[in-house]
Amino acid sequence: MMATTAAGSGAGICACGAARTVAVLAGDGIGPEVTAQAVRVLQLAAGLAGVRLTLSPGLIGGQAIDACGEPLPAATLDLCLGADACLLGAVGGPAWDGLAPARRPEAGLLALRKGMGLYANIRPVACHPALAASSPLRPDLVAGADLVVYRELGGGIYYGQPRFTETLPDGGGERAVDTMVYTTPEIERLARLGFAAARSRRGRLTSVDKANVLDCSRLWRRTVQQVAAEYPDVHVDHAYVDSCAMAIVAAPRGFDVLVTGNMFGDILSDLAACIAGSLGMLPSASLGERGGLYEPVHGSAPGIAGQDRANPLGAILSAAMLLDLSLGLHQAAQAVRGAVSRALEDGYRTADISSGRAGERLVGTAEMGEAVAERIPAAWNEMGRNQR
Ligand code: IPM
Ligand code: MG
Repeated sequence: MMATTAAGSGAGICACGAARTVAVLAGDGIGPEVTAQAVRVLQLAAGLAGVRLTLSPGLIGGQAIDACGEPLPAATLDLCLGADACLLGAVGGPAWDGLAPARRPEAGLLALRKGMGLYANIRPVACHPALAASSPLRPDLVAGADLVVYRELGGGIYYGQPRFTETLPDGGGERAVDTMVYTTPEIERLARLGFAAARSRRGRLTSVDKANVLDCSRLWRRTVQQVAAEYPDVHVDHAYVDSCAMAIVAAPRGFDVLVTGNMFGDILSDLAACIAGSLGMLPSASLGERGGLYEPVHGSAPGIAGQDRANPLGAILSAAMLLDLSLGLHQAAQAVRGAVSRALEDGYRTADISSGRAGERLVGTAEMGEAVAERIPAAWNEMGRNQR
């Protein structure tokens, strides 16, 4: 179900029993709580695979602004560049909303993605059978849905120049400019990852754009069409982002792999979270030529921070992607996913995925992490048996 094929992207893969280093950037809001559970599960699963992890904490976002006046201290970028992989919680919160754009917590995350050269953000979304009733969509619509969004992460309107805000003369208010830019190579490298993933999944790829309006999207569509010729076994279609948004909620089973630009991918992946029951369920991996950054798709949720109410499963499943894609520990990754599945089947629910039905057990962040952790050994043994 997960996008294991992205491993071919160049994320540094090697298990080899050696010690591995993981940078841990817990960040803001619920980041520290969910990351603590992800770390616990990560260490346990890597340990079963005979790999010792060295965890190195680093500051990012509001935490870093408070400690050293900038959202991405140079020491954090160095730490991440030197590690085998990075695990991140979340950035942002109302305390820092008033800062100038370049000093906001989010700017730290964007600079980290850029500094690490990450260009593909992989966001798998599936409906776990135990959670079909927790979705805001009808259970019969979401049952069996399983898709993955390949979001371009290093370009588009997030990074295009010029960008500025200026004051107009004569009381005319202000004028703000952002620029969407894409080049052929940027689109090609993302598209190739998407096609490779489609090949290892159900062989369908949907490229999402706004080619009826935007030049960037016309280039996007042309380029994906050209890359498609290298993958004749993959069925390709092209969708406008607006109608695609509707189709994701109306008929989510119609999607396998989606490839799209930075901003459309940001929006569509939050939307697609309905399928999984909650944004709290979604993991992500960001990959480039080397290294990888793993973070839950949800934000810092300042309203519930520090209350032991956040869902740690998105962070825990991000740790599973880290085991798979950066450490090459596939059995350990599968054990984590299996343990999450077992915890859900046994009725464990944080508030965001609770449907109020009999048999559910409402738990907090730490107890959910515990429920997953204690199911890992059995899941590990089962994976081992299946592989023999
Ligand atoms: C995400 C987030 C980030 C983004 C923010 C926090 C900058 O929404 O990872 O989806 O827009 O990329
Ligand atoms: Mg987002």
